Amino acid sequence: MSGRFITFEGGEGCGKTTQIALLVEYLKAKGIEVVVTKEPGGTPIGQELRKMLCTGDKDKFDAVAEALLYYADRRIHMQQKVLPALKSGAWVVSDRFADSTMAYQYYGYNKRLSKEMLDKLYEMTVGDFYPDLTIILDIDPKIGLARSFARNNLSDAKETRHESRETEFHENLRRGFLEIAKTAERYAVLNADMSVDDLHERVVALVEKRFF
Ligand SMILES: Nc1ncnc2c1ncn2[C@@H]1O[C@H](COP(=O)(O)OP(=O)(O)OP(=O)(O)O)[C@@H](O)[C@H]1O
Ligand SMILES: [Mg+2]
Repeated sequence: MSGRFITFEGGEGCGKTTQIALLVEYLKAKGIEVVVTKEPGGTPIGQELRKMLCTGDKDKFDAVAEALLYYADRRIHMQQKVLPALKSGAWVVSDRFADSTMAYQYYGYNKRLSKEMLDKLYEMTVGDFYPDLTIILDIDPKIGLARSFARNNLSDAKETRHESRETEFHENLRRGFLEIAKTAERYAVLNADMSVDDLHERVVALVEKRFF
């Protein structure tokens, strides 16, 4: 496997999708083949799961059912898209991955699920395999949510299921990502409360340092 696997994580509206588009442009300009993808919804079946997970009432299923659906999406995503792309030598950049499940389902819900259960699901689904670099974009949820709401008002998808959760959930989520970042070398945390261009410069600096 010669490609690199980079994941972007962080709360709602922190700028993941925006920064991924810029990073992908930068990598492609260097002649690297890049597959850009996301979770949930990186595959056709995943798109159906994404609709279930990201729209509608926030309490329509519980945290266990939610974690299982996210891991079903992840399993299909790994098998059908991420692993084949890496194997072919392409780099894969994913908008969210397993750290989001840990942040939302464990920290966000204030430990309603056990960490062990989520680790077990990871082991069953992904195995002994991890991203090469995980960039966590850190921002005050008030700022991120305001960005997210502004964007959602302009789109038809209305993927507001998680945005609609209470402030405490989003504060827990932020703390969760920062806790997770301490657990392995592959994590890097960037302050996302800055202009798109300044943040892109920092993302590029990180990628350069790790891979070039
Ligand atoms: N650095 C920035 N400063 C101000 N606005 C930004 C910045 N980065 C992104 N935005 C805007 O904020 C909104 C959310 O950004 P983006 O969609 O990239 O975030 P996200 O992390 O992918 O959000 P979500 O988790 O909801 O998918 C968009 O409308 C985007 O144009
Ligand atoms: Mg996004």
